[in-house]
Amino acid sequence: MMKPCLFSVGSSLRNRDTFLLLLAAGGLLQAQTVPAQYTGPGSCSSSSCHGGVQPRQETSVLQNEYSTWVVQDKHTRAFAALTGDIGQRMGRILNLDTQKSSRCLTCHAIDVDQSQKASSFDRNDGVGCENCHGPASNWLGPHTTRGWNYEKSLALGMYDTRDLIKRSEKCLSCHLGNGEKYVDHEMIAAGHPDLYFEQASFEAVMPRHWADGTEKDPSIEVKTMVVGQAVQLRENLLRISRNTSRFWPEYAELDCFSCHHSLVAAKDSWRQERGYQGRRAGNPPWNPSRYAIFQLVAAEIDRNSAQQLDSEVKKVLALVSDIVADKVQIAKAAASAAEVADAVAKRMAAAQIDTARTNRLLKMIAADYERIAWQGERTAEQATMAIDTLFIASSRANGKTGNDGPVRAAINTLFQLLQNPSAYNPQTFAHQMKNVEALLP
Ligand code: HEC
Ligand code: HEC
Ligand code: HEC
Ligand code: HEC
Repeated sequence: MMKPCLFSVGSSLRNRDTFLLLLAAGGLLQAQTVPAQYTGPGSCSSSSCHGGVQPRQETSVLQNEYSTWVVQDKHTRAFAALTGDIGQRMGRILNLDTQKSSRCLTCHAIDVDQSQKASSFDRNDGVGCENCHGPASNWLGPHTTRGWNYEKSLALGMYDTRDLIKRSEKCLSCHLGNGEKYVDHEMIAAGHPDLYFEQASFEAVMPRHWADGTEKDPSIEVKTMVVGQAVQLRENLLRISRNTSRFWPEYAELDCFSCHHSLVAAKDSWRQERGYQGRRAGNPPWNPSRYAIFQLVAAEIDRNSAQQLDSEVKKVLALVSDIVADKVQIAKAAASAAEVADAVAKRMAAAQIDTARTNRLLKMIAADYERIAWQGERTAEQATMAIDTLFIASSRANGKTGNDGPVRAAINTLFQLLQNPSAYNPQTFAHQMKNVEALLP
């Protein structure tokens, strides 16, 4: 049984909040009627709550989540990034105050009305517990009481991070953008890093502060990755559709390195050797990375939906790669493809993914080295993250960690080939991915 930590948090809240929490804990109040507030991660940090140093064994919750976040998780630095040298320079170029502008705060802190901030709220906390788990004031007290469960917290406004589709949506809201927030080429040219994402790899790097469930299901991250890719494709299509009415052509939707590469002598150019299929020579094409790998995954899991998705996405690809295409047509095609991607995401969430399928996916992606490599640096990056996730899951099923041996060394070389994206070379990358394939059992 977890020790209730109601009183250790109460002191950091306003009296009114403490009073309501006590009432709610006693089951005397329907807390839905109280507007939810953001209380800040300090409210979760007591050592008997989520601030333990070592993970616990006796409860299903590790109880060291705060310690993991505060020590290891880069999200704690999200607000500070706005005030650093690059952040400040971005502010000058874009003519905004990065510490005050919603254009930045919306992803780098909790950007809500004053009335939704409890007195313990501090924007310096950056991206904290409540960015992902929802405003805590209504469930903070009750969720530590005897007999409480997850569903009761959800009813009081906790965000359902256990649901894989919702979890991806939450991460991608900042790591790809959504209707309220975006990173476009103007921001990137001012200094913002380009956004790329793969759910399972990013969770591992974060790192996870939850029991990952691999004991029960050795392929759980593969499931996370597959669902994440479907949601990522859907969100990318929706973003294209929105961008057509904001600013078009939006360079951030195109292949960055079709413009940003160094030129070589004509006889040495792999781009000229490759040609410019389906577009005027020299026009920048769509960045296909959020589809190229998922295309294979979807076909393995659900062939019929994958075919339907493919014909929809191909239309978008052709239109986006044609810089003078009609914007209204692009928006329509992208919205329609997003609907199909949404249906596919639900099928992916319901699919069975076992070790045999994990191994098959690993082989299939690695064997497609030629096509993948020529789709560009961002696609190569997605393939590398997917192979990494699949290899770790596959090794685990054999009782290994995936941290050593020749396949691990070959995958690490793939990551190294992506270090300088402007100098990406598809021939070298294809060759190395072929090596990975040859080493797989
Ligand atoms: C759509 C969400 C979003 C918006 C809006 C946004 N950012 Fe970011 N920002 C991110 C994400 C996600 C990262 C981390 C990217 C990564 O490492 O993959 C990041 C990273 C950064 C970094 C690099 C941080 C580091 O530690 O190296 C800086 C600087 C930055 N953002 C500044 C800004 C500024 C200034 C604004 C407003 C003009 C802004 N951001 C708006 C999502 C956003
Ligand atoms: C960047 C998003 C993010 C941030 C920030 C974050 N979490 Fe989480 N958290 C997750 C995800 C995703 C899961 C896994 C899904 C799950 O189990 O709910 C999770 C799981 C948990 C769990 C296990 C819940 C369960 O379902 O059993 C706890 C407890 C938790 N987080 C507490 C915290 C605390 C405390 C903080 C702040 C110190 C925090 N989290 C910050 C995303 C986040
Ligand atoms: C509220 C916006 C937001 C949400 C939601 C969010 N992130 Fe982030 N994330 C950021 C920002 C901003 C940064 C950059 C922090 C910095 O370095 O200054 C970041 C950085 C990261 C990094 C470090 C990247 C690097 O370059 O090292 C990882 C990993 C990450 N996020 C994973 C996740 C995962 C997984 C989720 C969902 C469970 C998630 N994030 C949800 C905004 C967000
Ligand atoms: C259609 C061509 C095109 C595409 C596609 C494109 N850019 Fe740019 N980018 C430009 C131009 C033009 C500039 C301005 C260069 C200048 O002023 O010298 C620029 C500027 C930049 C800069 C600032 C210049 C510098 O040297 O630091 C960065 C960073 C950048 N782009 C990154 C990206 C990323 C990342 C992507 C993909 C998400 C991308 N660009 C897609 C054409 C493009």
